[in-house]
Amino acid sequence: MNYHKYDVVIVGAGGAGLMSAMQLAHNTSVAVISKLYPTRSHTGAAQGGVAAALGNQEEDHWKWHMFDTVKGGDYLVDQDAAEVLTREAIDAVYDLEHWGLPFNRTEDGKIDQRRFGGHTRNFGEGPVRRSCYAADRTGHMILQTMYQQSVKNQVKFYNEYLMLDLLINDGQACGVVALCLRDGTIHTFHAKTIVFATGGYGRAWRITSNALACTGDGMAVAYRRGIPLEDMEMYQFHPTGLYKVGILLSEAARGEGAYLLNKDGERFCVRYAPTMEELAPRDMVSRFIVQEITEGRGIDGKDYVYLSVAHLGKEKIDAKLPDITDFARNYLGVEPYYEPVPIQPTAHYAMGGIPTDIEGRVIMDENNTTLPGMYAAGEVACVSVHGANRLGTNSLVDLIVFGRRAGKHIAAKWLPEADFAPLPPNPDAWATEMVESLLARASAGAKGKGETQEAIRQDLRDSMMENAGVVRDEQHLTAQMAKVAELKERWQTMRLMDTSRTFNTELMEVIELGNLIECAEATVAGALARQESRGAHYRSDFPTRDDKNFLQHTLAFRSETAGAPELRYKPVVITEFQPKERKY
Ligand code: FUM
Repeated sequence: MNYHKYDVVIVGAGGAGLMSAMQLAHNTSVAVISKLYPTRSHTGAAQGGVAAALGNQEEDHWKWHMFDTVKGGDYLVDQDAAEVLTREAIDAVYDLEHWGLPFNRTEDGKIDQRRFGGHTRNFGEGPVRRSCYAADRTGHMILQTMYQQSVKNQVKFYNEYLMLDLLINDGQACGVVALCLRDGTIHTFHAKTIVFATGGYGRAWRITSNALACTGDGMAVAYRRGIPLEDMEMYQFHPTGLYKVGILLSEAARGEGAYLLNKDGERFCVRYAPTMEELAPRDMVSRFIVQEITEGRGIDGKDYVYLSVAHLGKEKIDAKLPDITDFARNYLGVEPYYEPVPIQPTAHYAMGGIPTDIEGRVIMDENNTTLPGMYAAGEVACVSVHGANRLGTNSLVDLIVFGRRAGKHIAAKWLPEADFAPLPPNPDAWATEMVESLLARASAGAKGKGETQEAIRQDLRDSMMENAGVVRDEQHLTAQMAKVAELKERWQTMRLMDTSRTFNTELMEVIELGNLIECAEATVAGALARQESRGAHYRSDFPTRDDKNFLQHTLAFRSETAGAPELRYKPVVITEFQPKERKY
């Protein structure tokens, strides 16, 4: 057995994982496992900014930020967590600044801030400049800065190791099993503490802003080991994905003054959201776009509308939006200096995930029972600060605030008391059997039988788009439950071609596809059961919010036998802001 032992093993080298590692690196043994080279983590794709009420451009307060977060999340937000997020955002952003992050600056040298959807002054009066940014590559800068700091602080990295299994023994998380992609060997990591920071699962949909790597690995591995997944039906579509490609065109464009236009050249958002216009929360703007398209006002009658930045002028475009305008040039051959850019909503962000408390400790049930030794932070986790809809630039702040909190809690509270729980017998048996049986299918005897994984993946992504997208209803969701069950069966018999153990990317993709199907199951089951419309979850057959029956979090528990997860519910934490109708 390839055996490694650390006090803390962090899975995922994006913003949340590295932020946790930075709190621990000085006085404990900590390893970070990533299926990628760390600077390729999806945090690097975040564009527009990181929200914090610094008040550098105009008056702002963390309480206003908290209110916007709760209202933006359609009141499914746990308000104790939203308070932590918005209060601690300020210090967390200054940590980044002190580590050398090259933020854009105001004239007097402070961190510059810009507008983003749903961020308002004085509890909803109008837009406020709250998002701290580095051009339209803020996530890239965060990732580079934190990786450099982690290397400086001698964090040990295991790059290109795909996590396969979580080990729990004696009621304590005690390790993970991973596949070394370089040579196909299986490795067991024994630890007092495991932190999952593995990101989201946007690759379950055909049109997505998510990197190829966003396959829900942490969620699926936890789900298989009996940890529930919370509020998975709350999946966000970002309004402005590049048409057909899905690549994100940052909301920063609209924050800087860009418009959305329909086929008549009308700024249709003004009609739907007279105060916030294009800067209404993204669940709403995505629905506005879908409605325009459904009612025949898409461009040329097709399923897209325009994002127009041309009126901002070359100088501003080059200074503030250089990357996204290059995406339009490179992928669609459109010149944003002069031409509007075709866009459509793109699967972007999981509000749901592994349930945690505000210290990042993983929760096992509706009574908030924690699993000792197990933490999660970032998109893989549901703390829940985003509720039913996340505000733009609240994801980077979630990573840094809750990554930081998890790391600090581990260092101060958990490690001083904790010991290594013994590993279960044959800890790598399940993972080894899975890998060997997949490779056996690629051996000469099996070659040629069954479907390819690409066919199953495509079917998953197309059907999720069709049946579990921006607008949902019972008929489509029921069809999708059946589809997911069918895809699970097809996964069991699919054909593999590559027998190699050296960088076998087919093997990796097959395992990732299995993870995506698990995440899709929890998503669709939660969506079918939630007979209301709230935030990103819009049911055309139940078009209004129903606080009486559904002001609660869904917990989906995997079931081996029932063919669908068991769903349980837990209350939302409400401290300050009572649910109201959302108007923008
Ligand atoms: O539009 C954006 O730049 C995305 C930001 C976010 O998802 O927070």
